[in-house]
Amino acid sequence: MAPYVPGEQPRPGQELIKLNTNENPYPPSPKVRRAILAEATASLRLYPAPNADAFIDAAARAYRVRREMIIAGNGSDELLSMLFRAIVGVGDKVAYPQPTYSLYDTLAAIAEASVARIPLEPDYRLPLDCLADERARLTIVCSPNSPCGAVASHDALAALARALSDHLLVVDEAYVDFAESNALDLVRTCDNVIVLRTLSKSFSLAGMRLGLAFANPAIIQQLRKVKDSYNLNRLAIVAGAAALADLPWMRRNVERVRRTRALTERRLRALGFEVPPSQANFVLARLAGYDLAPLAAALRRRGILVRHFPKSIFRDALRVSIGRPSEMRALFDALAALLPSFHRNAERISGAPAPTSAG
Ligand SMILES: Cc1ncc(COP(=O)(O)O)c(C=O)c1O
Repeated sequence: MAPYVPGEQPRPGQELIKLNTNENPYPPSPKVRRAILAEATASLRLYPAPNADAFIDAAARAYRVRREMIIAGNGSDELLSMLFRAIVGVGDKVAYPQPTYSLYDTLAAIAEASVARIPLEPDYRLPLDCLADERARLTIVCSPNSPCGAVASHDALAALARALSDHLLVVDEAYVDFAESNALDLVRTCDNVIVLRTLSKSFSLAGMRLGLAFANPAIIQQLRKVKDSYNLNRLAIVAGAAALADLPWMRRNVERVRRTRALTERRLRALGFEVPPSQANFVLARLAGYDLAPLAAALRRRGILVRHFPKSIFRDALRVSIGRPSEMRALFDALAALLPSFHRNAERISGAPAPTSAG
């Protein structure tokens, strides 16, 4: 099977502008650092709480959801693994849009599932009606979707949940704090909905590995059966609890990212890219019909990491995480310098449709 390929992580000492894995450019709350330091000097000799109680309590308060409806993961990646482990047997059908977060493909391959990959609408919208028709054992909707940032509306997700009736719907809301709406409250009204969140993006804690799944208590109970006994370590548990107790810090950083996102969309469009409106902390910048691998490599040589997906229909695009304004200015300057020679040398992807915007 093909492995999941994570974005490049610089080695210590490498000075790179990192716009490739959708991390937050701003630091986590200072309360997180204090909590980690206190825990590190207290009790690392002992195993952590198996169900990450302090983190779950903080999540119950922050999201106003009962604790029985929450389970914690070592990142939301682990929660996705747990969901596949608990729900998907060999040959079971899993459905999700395509393109989307490519880890779903890896997990489906491990589970030997049969996969219905439903293409996005031409305007990048999520194809929820077609997903309903599949009636898969497990349907996954990433909203906002990666790599283009489109959100499925609350009402559309509620309708999908109803249409799937007793089949399970996972809404992966890794980026939802950067969006205008979310679907968390569906877990209260729809027994078949599981909502995933992560502290990796809006809370600036990708390095701590903290994810949350919300669902009705019966589903959470089943997930507990398949999790590793001590899946979150002591430092992560206190860090997660401290981060969730400081929502204003997260919201301030999200606001800064959203402002920079608006600027980034404008600047990339002015450079000739097609940029679908994004509600995440990244944007997709497309020169339809041209493989952008050489442009990603040229940016890399200038010390700027962006994400290129060579096997995707979006190989004519770059996914650019939103960094600090100074980092984005470095990106715009590099692109302005590189694009003329890119256009002189670029070859169209054979069979590609005509570009829908400049390029
Ligand atoms: C859509 C989506 N879901 C989940 C994750 C995993 O997040 P975590 O860091 O919590 O494992 C990512 C990470 O990039 C993602 O893009």
